[in-house]
Amino acid sequence: MKGYLLVLDGIDGCGKTSQINHLSNWLPRSGLMPKGAKLHVTKEPGGTHLGTALRQLLLNTSNESAPESTTELLLYAADRAQHISQVIRPALEKGDWILSDRFSGSTIAYQGYGRKLNIDIIETLEAIATQGVSADITLWLKVGIEESLRRRKATNNDRIEAEGKDFLEKVSLGFEALAEQRNWITICANQEAPLVSQHIENALKNYFENLLVI
Ligand code: TYD
Repeated sequence: MKGYLLVLDGIDGCGKTSQINHLSNWLPRSGLMPKGAKLHVTKEPGGTHLGTALRQLLLNTSNESAPESTTELLLYAADRAQHISQVIRPALEKGDWILSDRFSGSTIAYQGYGRKLNIDIIETLEAIATQGVSADITLWLKVGIEESLRRRKATNNDRIEAEGKDFLEKVSLGFEALAEQRNWITICANQEAPLVSQHIENALKNYFENLLVI
Protein backbone atom coordinates (compact mmCIF):
# COMPACT_ATOMS: atom_id res chain seq x y z
CA MET A 1 0.00 0.00 0.00
CA LYS A 2 1.14 3.52 -0.79
CA GLY A 3 0.61 5.31 2.53
CA TYR A 4 2.39 5.09 5.86
CA LEU A 5 1.17 3.90 9.27
CA LEU A 6 3.01 5.39 12.21
CA VAL A 7 2.08 4.23 15.72
CA LEU A 8 2.83 5.58 19.19
CA ASP A 9 2.50 3.08 22.00
CA GLY A 10 3.42 2.61 25.65
CA ILE A 11 1.98 2.23 29.13
CA ASP A 12 -0.55 4.69 30.53
CA GLY A 13 1.13 7.96 31.52
CA CYS A 14 3.95 7.62 28.95
CA GLY A 15 2.96 10.97 27.38
CA LYS A 16 1.48 9.69 24.11
CA THR A 17 -1.21 12.35 23.97
CA SER A 18 1.25 15.27 24.11
CA GLN A 19 3.53 13.63 21.55
CA ILE A 20 0.64 12.85 19.19
CA ASN A 21 -0.36 16.53 19.41
CA HIS A 22 3.19 17.59 18.70
CA LEU A 23 3.61 15.19 15.77
CA SER A 24 0.28 16.18 14.23
CA ASN A 25 1.73 19.71 13.83
CA TRP A 26 5.32 18.79 13.07
CA LEU A 27 4.96 15.90 10.61
CA PRO A 28 3.19 17.83 7.81
CA ARG A 29 5.93 20.51 8.04
CA SER A 30 8.82 18.06 8.50
CA GLY A 31 9.55 17.46 4.83
CA LEU A 32 9.24 13.71 5.48
CA MET A 33 5.77 13.30 4.00
CA PRO A 34 5.37 13.09 0.22
CA LYS A 35 3.74 16.08 -1.46
CA GLY A 36 -0.04 15.83 -1.47
CA ALA A 37 -0.20 13.17 1.26
CA LYS A 38 -2.52 14.05 4.15
CA LEU A 39 -1.95 13.16 7.80
CA HIS A 40 -4.83 11.42 9.62
CA VAL A 41 -4.57 11.36 13.39
CA THR A 42 -6.47 8.53 15.02
CA LYS A 43 -6.52 6.19 18.01
CA GLU A 44 -7.40 2.78 19.41
CA PRO A 45 -9.78 2.13 20.94
CA GLY A 46 -12.19 4.67 19.52
CA GLY A 47 -11.00 5.63 16.03
CA THR A 48 -14.43 5.08 14.45
CA HIS A 49 -18.06 5.76 15.34
CA LEU A 50 -18.57 2.17 16.49
CA GLY A 51 -15.16 2.29 18.16
CA THR A 52 -16.28 5.25 20.29
CA ALA A 53 -19.09 3.11 21.66
CA LEU A 54 -16.71 0.16 22.20
CA ARG A 55 -14.25 2.45 24.01
CA GLN A 56 -17.03 3.46 26.37
CA LEU A 57 -17.90 -0.20 27.04
CA LEU A 58 -14.23 -1.07 27.58
CA LEU A 59 -13.12 1.79 29.77
CA ASN A 60 -16.01 3.59 31.41
CA THR A 61 -18.35 0.87 32.58
CA SER A 62 -19.89 0.13 35.94
CA ASN A 63 -18.36 -2.89 37.70
CA GLU A 64 -21.48 -4.84 36.81
CA SER A 65 -20.98 -4.49 33.05
CA ALA A 66 -17.17 -4.63 33.04
CA PRO A 67 -15.98 -7.17 30.43
CA GLU A 68 -14.21 -10.38 31.43
CA SER A 69 -10.65 -10.74 30.06
CA THR A 70 -11.62 -12.74 26.97
CA THR A 71 -14.52 -10.39 26.22
CA GLU A 72 -12.13 -7.47 26.64
CA LEU A 73 -9.72 -9.04 24.14
CA LEU A 74 -12.49 -9.53 21.59
CA LEU A 75 -13.78 -5.97 22.01
CA TYR A 76 -10.32 -4.52 21.35
CA ALA A 77 -10.03 -6.75 18.28
CA ALA A 78 -13.49 -5.64 17.08
CA ASP A 79 -12.50 -2.00 17.52
CA ARG A 80 -9.34 -2.66 15.47
CA ALA A 81 -11.13 -4.49 12.65
CA GLN A 82 -13.53 -1.56 12.24
CA HIS A 83 -10.67 0.94 12.45
CA ILE A 84 -8.71 -0.88 9.73
CA SER A 85 -11.71 -1.15 7.41
CA GLN A 86 -13.10 2.35 7.83
CA VAL A 87 -10.07 4.54 8.54
CA ILE A 88 -6.63 2.99 8.13
CA ARG A 89 -6.90 0.97 4.93
CA PRO A 90 -8.78 3.65 2.92
CA ALA A 91 -6.19 6.28 3.96
CA LEU A 92 -3.24 3.99 3.13
CA GLU A 93 -4.74 3.21 -0.27
CA LYS A 94 -4.90 6.95 -1.04
CA GLY A 95 -1.23 7.32 -0.13
CA ASP A 96 -1.99 9.26 3.05
CA TRP A 97 -0.17 8.96 6.37
CA ILE A 98 -1.77 7.81 9.58
CA LEU A 99 -0.61 8.60 13.07
CA SER A 100 -2.29 6.21 15.50
CA ASP A 101 -2.38 6.49 19.27
CA ARG A 102 -1.94 2.74 20.00
CA PHE A 103 -2.32 -0.26 17.68
CA SER A 104 -2.13 -4.07 17.88
CA GLY A 105 0.98 -4.14 20.12
CA SER A 106 -1.18 -2.75 22.93
CA THR A 107 -3.31 -5.90 22.88
CA ILE A 108 -0.26 -8.14 23.24
CA ALA A 109 1.11 -5.98 26.06
CA TYR A 110 -2.15 -5.43 27.99
CA GLN A 111 -4.23 -8.55 27.30
CA GLY A 112 -1.27 -10.91 26.73
CA TYR A 113 1.35 -9.84 29.27
CA GLY A 114 -1.04 -7.94 31.58
CA ARG A 115 -4.06 -10.27 31.65
CA LYS A 116 -2.02 -13.38 30.82
CA LEU A 117 -4.22 -14.44 27.89
CA ASN A 118 -2.63 -16.80 25.37
CA ILE A 119 -0.26 -14.85 23.08
CA ASP A 120 -0.66 -17.26 20.13
CA ILE A 121 -4.41 -16.74 20.21
CA ILE A 122 -3.93 -12.98 20.45
CA GLU A 123 -1.63 -13.04 17.43
CA THR A 124 -4.19 -15.05 15.44
CA LEU A 125 -6.81 -12.50 16.39
CA GLU A 126 -4.42 -9.71 15.47
CA ALA A 127 -4.07 -11.22 11.99
CA ILE A 128 -7.86 -11.37 11.63
CA ALA A 129 -8.43 -7.82 12.88
CA THR A 130 -5.61 -6.12 10.97
CA GLN A 131 -6.47 -7.81 7.65
CA GLY A 132 -2.88 -7.73 6.41
CA VAL A 133 -2.10 -4.19 7.53
CA SER A 134 0.87 -3.66 9.83
CA ALA A 135 2.48 -0.57 11.29
CA ASP A 136 5.38 0.83 9.24
CA ILE A 137 6.96 2.46 12.27
CA THR A 138 6.13 2.05 15.94
CA LEU A 139 7.58 4.45 18.47
CA TRP A 140 7.57 3.00 21.98
CA LEU A 141 7.51 5.72 24.63
CA LYS A 142 9.37 3.99 27.43
CA VAL A 143 8.59 5.39 30.84
CA GLY A 144 9.28 4.04 34.34
CA ILE A 145 6.38 2.64 36.37
CA GLU A 146 6.89 5.12 39.23
CA GLU A 147 6.94 8.03 36.77
CA SER A 148 3.75 6.75 35.10
CA LEU A 149 1.98 6.51 38.46
CA ARG A 150 3.28 9.93 39.55
CA ARG A 151 2.02 11.59 36.37
CA ARG A 152 -1.44 10.07 36.77
CA LYS A 153 -1.83 10.71 40.49
CA ALA A 154 -4.14 13.69 40.10
CA THR A 155 -6.23 12.27 37.22
CA ASN A 156 -9.33 10.09 37.22
CA ASN A 157 -8.26 6.61 36.17
CA ASP A 158 -10.34 4.59 33.70
CA ARG A 159 -11.01 0.86 34.30
CA ILE A 160 -7.66 -0.33 32.92
CA GLU A 161 -5.58 2.50 34.41
CA ALA A 162 -7.08 1.60 37.80
CA GLU A 163 -5.49 -1.89 37.67
CA GLY A 164 -2.46 -0.68 39.63
CA LYS A 165 1.26 -1.18 39.80
CA ASP A 166 1.65 -4.98 39.40
CA PHE A 167 -0.48 -5.01 36.27
CA LEU A 168 1.42 -2.05 34.83
CA GLU A 169 4.74 -3.79 35.46
CA LYS A 170 3.60 -6.83 33.47
CA VAL A 171 2.33 -4.61 30.63
CA SER A 172 5.63 -2.75 30.59
CA LEU A 173 7.53 -6.03 30.23
CA GLY A 174 5.25 -6.80 27.30
CA PHE A 175 6.20 -3.56 25.56
CA GLU A 176 9.87 -4.26 26.24
CA ALA A 177 9.58 -7.68 24.57
CA LEU A 178 7.61 -6.31 21.61
CA ALA A 179 10.07 -3.49 20.99
CA GLU A 180 12.81 -6.07 20.72
CA GLN A 181 10.88 -8.59 18.58
CA ARG A 182 9.27 -6.09 16.23
CA ASN A 183 12.13 -3.61 15.81
CA TRP A 184 10.26 -0.71 17.33
CA ILE A 185 12.01 2.59 17.92
CA THR A 186 12.45 3.08 21.67
CA ILE A 187 12.12 6.64 22.96
CA CYS A 188 13.11 7.50 26.52
CA ALA A 189 9.95 9.21 27.80
CA ASN A 190 11.04 9.80 31.39
CA GLN A 191 12.04 13.35 30.45
CA GLU A 192 10.13 16.59 29.85
CA ALA A 193 7.75 16.59 26.85
CA PRO A 194 9.80 19.01 24.63
CA LEU A 195 12.88 16.79 25.01
CA VAL A 196 10.85 13.70 24.14
CA SER A 197 9.51 15.53 21.06
CA GLN A 198 13.06 16.38 20.00
CA HIS A 199 14.12 12.76 20.43
CA ILE A 200 11.16 11.58 18.33
CA GLU A 201 11.88 14.10 15.55
CA ASN A 202 15.52 12.98 15.40
CA ALA A 203 14.57 9.30 15.41
CA LEU A 204 12.14 9.79 12.52
CA LYS A 205 14.60 11.86 10.48
CA ASN A 206 17.28 9.18 10.99
CA TYR A 207 14.86 6.43 10.09
CA PHE A 208 13.92 8.03 6.76
CA GLU A 209 17.51 9.04 5.94
CA ASN A 210 18.57 5.39 6.41
CA LEU A 211 15.70 4.22 4.21
CA LEU A 212 16.98 6.48 1.42
CA VAL A 213 20.51 5.13 1.78
CA ILE A 214 19.28 1.52 1.53
P1 TYD B 1 -5.53 5.37 25.96
O1 TYD B 1 -6.43 5.92 24.92
O2 TYD B 1 -4.09 5.40 25.73
O3 TYD B 1 -5.87 6.04 27.35
P2 TYD B 1 -5.98 7.64 27.61
O4 TYD B 1 -7.35 8.06 27.18
O5 TYD B 1 -5.82 7.72 29.10
O6 TYD B 1 -4.90 8.29 26.83
O7 TYD B 1 -5.89 3.81 26.13
C1 TYD B 1 -7.02 3.35 26.72
C2 TYD B 1 -6.73 2.10 27.50
O8 TYD B 1 -6.96 0.94 26.71
C3 TYD B 1 -5.30 1.99 28.02
O9 TYD B 1 -5.34 1.77 29.43
C4 TYD B 1 -4.75 0.75 27.34
C5 TYD B 1 -5.96 -0.03 26.96
N1 TYD B 1 -5.79 -0.90 25.78
C6 TYD B 1 -5.73 -2.28 25.93
O10 TYD B 1 -5.79 -2.79 27.06
N2 TYD B 1 -5.63 -3.07 24.82
C7 TYD B 1 -5.58 -2.56 23.56
O11 TYD B 1 -5.50 -3.32 22.57
C8 TYD B 1 -5.64 -1.13 23.41
C9 TYD B 1 -5.61 -0.51 22.04
C10 TYD B 1 -5.74 -0.33 24.54
